[in-house]
Amino acid sequence: MNGKLPHIVQYQGSKRVLAPRILQFMPKKFRRLIEPFAGTAAVSVAAAAESRADVFYLNDLNAPLTNLLRKAIEEPSELAREYAALWNEQFSFGDRHAQHFFIVRDRFNQGEQSPANLLYLMSRCVKGAVRYGKNGNFNQSPDKRRHGTKPETLSANVRAVSALLKGKTVFSSLDYRETLALAKPGDLVYMDPPYQGVTNARDSRYVSGVPFQEFVEAVADLNRRGIDYLISYDGRRGEKAYGAELPASFRCQKTLLNAGTSAQSALLGRKDTTFEALYVSPTLAEAGI
Ligand SMILES: C[S@@+](CC[C@H](N)C(=O)[O-])C[C@H]1O[C@@H](n2cnc3c(N)ncnc32)[C@H](O)[C@@H]1O
Repeated sequence: MNGKLPHIVQYQGSKRVLAPRILQFMPKKFRRLIEPFAGTAAVSVAAAAESRADVFYLNDLNAPLTNLLRKAIEEPSELAREYAALWNEQFSFGDRHAQHFFIVRDRFNQGEQSPANLLYLMSRCVKGAVRYGKNGNFNQSPDKRRHGTKPETLSANVRAVSALLKGKTVFSSLDYRETLALAKPGDLVYMDPPYQGVTNARDSRYVSGVPFQEFVEAVADLNRRGIDYLISYDGRRGEKAYGAELPASFRCQKTLLNAGTSAQSALLGRKDTTFEALYVSPTLAEAGI
């Protein structure tokens, strides 16, 4: 856990570690925080812990993931009970406990996409690195050495997240542009789109990618409407830059945040530090936050 911030489940690409730094670029208080690419909502959890906003809007195109967020926040006890039941089932498989993961994964891919099933798959798979196949199937393998987050730990985490966000949060599973259309002056939009991969390569980390030009147009529209936003976008790992930069004509303030040693570098036995860009909208930058 990062400091005292609770999290629902590990998710590769989660902003849990960077969230406190990202909050430094937000106003002390604003009306509504909109996360069009919510994932596991690490930034909203951190903002709620500091009572920065009155209302939170969590959207992610991945509908089972949004359903998991909703259940964790609105019915944490029931989710924790369902998770514990699933988690305990794996021990009836003895040494072959990883087999249980494949059974739950098959159920999920055949349509039983309940929040507890997804939560179990996420907590049980290698490094929270969710992977999707071409047909949208969850195709990551289990971490064979571990059993996944203990039910007591998971229960404490979802209850803590729920205590921060219940009764203040709206959920949807739309394309990000539909949620941007709802933003009004006084709201703050935080965007963490899927990483920009190699051109034309499908990114198996997420259910969908976001073309660069389309994203640039969506941000240009926020600029025209005078909406405050923060965007995590390109960056650098060691000497290597990744992702295209947003146009300089947007007049955003760009800061590189130190995200530490990347999991990918660590797997390769290297110690490259990753820096992630944070773009601050001209409206916020001019307000001098
Ligand atoms: C980098 S992750 C966000 C991680 C998040 N900040 C967190 O802390 O967990 C990007 C998310 O965008 C979602 N996504 C991909 N394409 C999308 C789209 N067109 N509209 C909305 N969400 C999308 C993915 O499902 C994924 O959860």
